[in-house]
Order: sequence, then C-alpha cells, then structure tokens
Amino acid sequence: MLASKKILIGITGSIAAYKTILLVRLLMKAGAEVKVVITPAAKAFVSPLVLSTLSKHNVYADLVESDQWANHVELGRWADLFIIAPLSCNTLAKMANGYCDNMLLAVYLSATCAVVVAPAMDEDMWHHASTQKNLATLLSYGITSIPVGNGELASGLFGEGRMAEPEEILQFCEETFFRGKSLTGKKVLVTAGPTYEAIDPVRFIGNYSSGKMGFAIAEALYMAGADVQLITGPSHEQLRYKGIKILPVISAAEMYEAVAPLMEQVDIAVYCAAVADFTPSIKQIEKIKKNTDHLLLELVPTIDILAMAGAKKKSNQYILGFALETENEKENALAKLKRKNIDAIVLNSLRTEGAGFGYDTNEITIFSAKGIEKTFPLQLKKSVATQIVSFIIDELHA
Ligand code: CTP
Repeated sequence: MLASKKILIGITGSIAAYKTILLVRLLMKAGAEVKVVITPAAKAFVSPLVLSTLSKHNVYADLVESDQWANHVELGRWADLFIIAPLSCNTLAKMANGYCDNMLLAVYLSATCAVVVAPAMDEDMWHHASTQKNLATLLSYGITSIPVGNGELASGLFGEGRMAEPEEILQFCEETFFRGKSLTGKKVLVTAGPTYEAIDPVRFIGNYSSGKMGFAIAEALYMAGADVQLITGPSHEQLRYKGIKILPVISAAEMYEAVAPLMEQVDIAVYCAAVADFTPSIKQIEKIKKNTDHLLLELVPTIDILAMAGAKKKSNQYILGFALETENEKENALAKLKRKNIDAIVLNSLRTEGAGFGYDTNEITIFSAKGIEKTFPLQLKKSVATQIVSFIIDELHA
C-alpha cells in the first residue's frame, strides 16, 4: 500500500519527536519515499543528520539555505501525504491562524496533498480551550488528526496528550489514505482461527491454527476497500486496522451461530477457520476427576459451516474455502470444492516446511470452479493474503 508513495514528514518542537525517527524508518521499510521538513524548535529534539541518513534525502529546515530560496511549493506538491508528527501546541496555533514564519508552515500552507497531524503535548495544554479551538479549526480545513494517547507525559504526569505510537500512525495513515477501491461497497465475511470444543470446564479439543492466515486475509480484503466482518476462534493475533469488525467465538457451534445470519447477506465470504469436525457429545459441567482407569469420550460431528454456506449460495455471491490436506492433496481439494458448492478452494499443504499452522509463511494452490489452478510459492502469509484477494478480484471481473 505504501510502496512508492511519497510521504512528507513534518516535525515540530516536542519531546515526542524522537519517535518520529522510527516512523521514518517504518515508512522506508514499507517502501515509501520519505522527505522530512522540520521547524527550528524541532532541531533541539532530533538531529537532521539522523533524519537525512534514514530518509536518504536532505532535511528541509530553512526558507533560505546558502543564500538560496528553498522551494516550499514544490515540496507541498511532491507529496501524496503530509504527516506532521509530533504537532506541538505552538505549530497547531500557527497552522490554525495561517502563520508562515518557518519552512514547515510554508510547506503546509502550499501543500496540495492530504495533511494529517499527530498532536503531542501535556494534558493541561491539550485540554486548554484555545488548543481545542485551534484543533477544531484545523479539522474544519479538512485536516485529519490522529487521536492522542493516554499515559505518561514528559512532565511526569499521567493523562491525555501523548503522540500516537509510530506503528499506530503508520496503520492510521494506511487505513485512512491508502485503501484501494476494487472491493468498495462489497460486504465480506471471513472466518479465522481454530475452534475449541469443551470437554469439561477446564479442558477442550482444539487444533494448532493460529488465525494468522485468516487475519491477514481480512486485512487484505479491507485494504482492497471491502466492508469486512471477521469471525474468529481463539487467537492471539491483533488486527492492524480499526475499521474491520471482529467477533470472537470459541466453539464450532458458536462460530456457526455467528456466521449463519450473515451467510446469505454477504457478497464475498472466505472460510479460513480450522473448524473442529467433531465435538464431545456431552460437555461435563464439573471437572472430570482422574478416579477411573480409563476415560471414553464420545464425539459427534459439528455443523459444516462452509458446506451450509455453499448449499445456500446465491448466484451473485463468491465463496472461497480452504482445504487442509496431508494426502491426495489436489484430488481431495477438488472434491471439496465440488461437494461444498463453492467458487474456489485454497489448498494448504502440511508437507512443505514453513507452511501451514503457526508459521508466518504459507505455500498455497488455488483451484476455482471455473477450472483455474494457480500455485503461489512459499511467502509471508500477508503476501499470500494479498494474492488470494487479487485472485478473488480477478475472478469477480472475469
Ligand atoms: N469448515 C467449516 N466447518 C466445519 C469444517 C470445515 O466451515 N465444521 C470449512 C473450513 O473453514 C475450510 C473447509 O471447510 O474452509 C475445509 O476444511 P477442512 O478441515 O480442510 O476439511 P473438512 O471439510 O473438515 O473435511 P476433512 O476433515 O474430511 O478433510
């Protein structure tokens, strides 16, 4: 998303400026081209040398440099996005009132791209009526503000006013300014993670699914513009984007209850969860004691959620399922595609080192009902997710 995007970073005089060094690094790692402009006050907090070394561009600080006029108009027109982080109380006041007494303000006033600010100040300053009035003025100019955090402040006090963390700023900007439009207006459902089938109050039958693949798919669909509802079994994964709706469930039965009302409503559904096929017929209310020399558990089948969705599939719906196979992989995957009446199936093989449960990487083959077969080499699950979403988009347009 950020690859080859032109990002201009503005830094003002605030102790939070040290965190912006990491933001520059994160943006560069994400493939963005980064230039930095700082106010005179910011120089006391961060070194232009560090910033120019990381961004691989000179840092802009003065309107006049070596008797030459620095071209602020060009810089404001170069950027796809201008991120001012941290935004001090002083620069906020100047921006709200049209002041132009330094390079950063001149660039801001002449910028034609979107501008986003990450304020940073002590809590009392943050809550002061003049600060809030100035912020409201900036918002009325169409500028976006990243919410401040709550925690320890430079004064030693605790409260509101901390600049958002670099990772949060990055995610906020990706989500707000760089979402694609291929799936705009599409309602999408994704299931992810394992399910836990209770035996008694302290034990369950589960599987090794981490939820990584399903979460990555939900994020990729969201970044392609879709309205995404993720329904996930127990997982330690965290979503990068706040705009994705998430509903946690525990068991196969709970997952079915959560999915059923959406099944026929969504335009696209990706059933990635490793749902238990069997569940104990009786869930003991009290903990099972070890006072017998053997224990027999009776298991009964769960509802096959994907098969149910396939049976109810509407002609304008696109459904993609997963197949986890350890033998006769292609044959079994194709049989599942047909049996479950879906549009495509992603074959996950447990045979490849680094692919499948728990790993950050995966190797897959997608088979579609239209007869297309595409294999993707071992790569990060995030990239696999992007490839799956591109495959879906291609199929929708075919
Ligand atoms: N699935 C589901 N509900 C279930 C079982 C599976 O929705 N109760 C979905 C999975 O999310 C996946 C697909 O069905 O998209 C295939 O899951 P998999 O475990 O590979 O196959 P099963 O259908 O369970 O068949 P088998 O265990 O015989 O391979």
